[in-house]
Amino acid sequence: MATITASVYTSHVPAIGAALDLGKTTEAYWQPVFKGYEFSKQWLKDNTPDVIFLVYNDHATAFSLDFIPTFAIGTAESFTPADEGWGPRPVPQVIGHPEFAAHIAQSVIQQDFDLTIVNKMDVDHGLTVPLSLMCGQPQAWPCPVIPFAVNVVQYPIPSGNRCFQLGRAIRNAVQSFDRDIKVQIWGTGGMSHQLQGPRAGLINKDFDNQFLDYLEKNPTTAAQISHINYVRDAGSEGIELVMWLIARGAMDDVAGGNPASVAHRFYHVPASNTAVGHLILEN
Ligand code: DHB
Ligand code: FE
Repeated sequence: MATITASVYTSHVPAIGAALDLGKTTEAYWQPVFKGYEFSKQWLKDNTPDVIFLVYNDHATAFSLDFIPTFAIGTAESFTPADEGWGPRPVPQVIGHPEFAAHIAQSVIQQDFDLTIVNKMDVDHGLTVPLSLMCGQPQAWPCPVIPFAVNVVQYPIPSGNRCFQLGRAIRNAVQSFDRDIKVQIWGTGGMSHQLQGPRAGLINKDFDNQFLDYLEKNPTTAAQISHINYVRDAGSEGIELVMWLIARGAMDDVAGGNPASVAHRFYHVPASNTAVGHLILEN
C-alpha cells in the first residue's frame, strides 16, 4: 500500500527562482530566505519519497482565460519548465508518474471530485520554485512529481473547505494504490501578498502566523476561512493559501490518526512582494 509520509508547505515567489538561477543566494537580501530552507534541503535528502504530489497554481502559463480547470492533475511522462517571459528557468525537466497519477484521478473522481486530466502541460514558477527551495540546484529532481494545478487566479475558485475535503480524498486514493511507495504531498503558494490595486504590497504577519498555527494544530479551523477573509486579511494573492489545505487534508490526523509532528517551521518577510512561509509536517 502507498502511504503519505509527510506534507510540505511553502511559498513560491518567482524572484526566488531568479535569485537562484542568477547566483544571488548569498546577497544580504536573500540570505535569510535561503537559510530558512537549509534544514529542509537536508530533511528532503534524508526523507526522499518515491513520488511528490505537488499542489500548485499555474499563473496563466499552461492555462489561459480560454480554459480554466478548477483542479487539474498532470498525468504525463514529463513536464517542461515554462518560459514565463525571461526564458525557461534552467532547471531539470519534471518527471511525472503516469500510472500513479491515473490511479489517483480514477479514485478521486470516483469519490465525487471532478478533476481535469492533463496529458501535456508546461509548469511555471508555481511548481519549479518550491522544488528549487527544497532541492537546491540538482542535475535532476530527486524523484518523480505529479503536478496538481488548482485555479486560484480567476474567480470562482474553490473554497478552503473544498480543498481540505479534496485532500482527504487524495489520501484515500494514495492508500488504495497497491504498491509500497512513499508519497509526500506539498501545498504551495501564499503567504499574504497582494500584487495589484491600491493595496499592492500588503503583508499581514499576524494572519500568516495564525494560519501556520492553525495548520499545525487545528486544520479544520483553517479550512473554515472564507474567501472574503483571505482577501481582506492576506491580500488578493493570499488566496493561494487554499492550496495548503489540500496537502493538510491528506494527513493522517484528519482521518483520525496520530497528530502530525512538526519537523520544521519558518517565516520571513519580505521576499519580493510576499511573505515567505514554510512548514514540514510528518505523519
Ligand atoms: C510574486 C508573488 C507571486 O505569488 C507570484 O505568483 C508572482 C509574483 C511577487 O512577490 O512578486
Ligand atoms: Fe503566485
